[in-house]
Amino acid sequence: EAAEKGGYDYFMLKEIAEQPKAVADTLLGRIDASGSLTLDEVRIPGQALREVDKVVIVACGTAFHAGMIAKYAIEHWTRIPCEVELASEFRYRDPILDPQTLVIAISQSGETMDTLMALRHAREQGSRVLAICNTNGSTIPRESDAVLYTHAGPEVAVASTKAFLTQLVACYLVALYLGQVRGTKWGDEIHAVVRDLAKISEQVERVLETMEPVRELARSLAAKDTVLFLGRHVGYPVALEGALKLKELAYMHAEGFAAGELKHGPIALIEDDLPVVVVVPSARGRSVLHDKIVSNIQEIRARGARTIVIAEEGDETVVPYADHLIRIPATPTLLQPLVATVPLQVFACELATARGNEVDQPRNLAKSVTVE
Ligand code: AGP
Repeated sequence: EAAEKGGYDYFMLKEIAEQPKAVADTLLGRIDASGSLTLDEVRIPGQALREVDKVVIVACGTAFHAGMIAKYAIEHWTRIPCEVELASEFRYRDPILDPQTLVIAISQSGETMDTLMALRHAREQGSRVLAICNTNGSTIPRESDAVLYTHAGPEVAVASTKAFLTQLVACYLVALYLGQVRGTKWGDEIHAVVRDLAKISEQVERVLETMEPVRELARSLAAKDTVLFLGRHVGYPVALEGALKLKELAYMHAEGFAAGELKHGPIALIEDDLPVVVVVPSARGRSVLHDKIVSNIQEIRARGARTIVIAEEGDETVVPYADHLIRIPATPTLLQPLVATVPLQVFACELATARGNEVDQPRNLAKSVTVE
């Protein structure tokens, strides 16, 4: 087993380190020299994709967070309405499905029972199902109409890391492909995104090289009971993912909030020295949201929170309000989760270690949940 860990203490650390390669492998061969997507493996006829009038994403846990981020990309680039639903809730509410609905089932293992039951239900109603999956030949892709495999390689640690990043890449590819097939108003933006996606692997590598202060910070918080996470837009699912990682690994109370919701309740939780991680949106493009979140940071800091700010390189506006500043490379807004999630994985892993927890096999959890 030591050899399989490749010199790392835990599979999770190895899998975090493998992310630049996992991202690059998932892109490999899927974008041609002209910047067009070549997803031949998505064997759903072009005509059927052109007729899609709604996308529904079903998934659990971390894969659900990938789905939440995919919604922003799909709706922005294709203008097709997109819903995201926890697979365990989906079939019990009699969802509206028909042959024009494209259901996307996201699963690392391809064996998650909740997701499998959701996709079976969707197919019974005549909808087409596209699986995004990391495990060749597993049940979910076998029972779907088409599959786009993520090429993360085997993920052993219970806490999902590299599978999540590759699920995001696959979701972006599907969103761009839908736009391409349907000839939706493409602009220079789409071509720019394809170019930016190609840079992500190297940007994740750069994030990984700067993680020592994050580990140090995590160790210093080992005795805390609670950590809160705030984000907006695609940063909101990133906040949820940061909180989920901390729950499952560090067994701490961790919650993610949409920062705009703070004033509707959660701000009452802020007390002296409470660590609050804030994912700051890209300073370009969405400047309104950026400015709003900077005011949120000021508000919580004024109430005593210890602010841990994740912000783009070059964003100086956050400096006066950040007790701890974690820098990430600048990306287009929609792609930011690919770099913003990485420090949160490192943070949770180090906190778990500092608390003496079993990193790869957290208590009460299984890698693949094959019961409903
Ligand atoms: C993530 O860290 C989890 N352990 C868990 O939420 C996981 O993502 C979920 O159970 C879904 O698994 P799947 O991707 O294999 O379907």
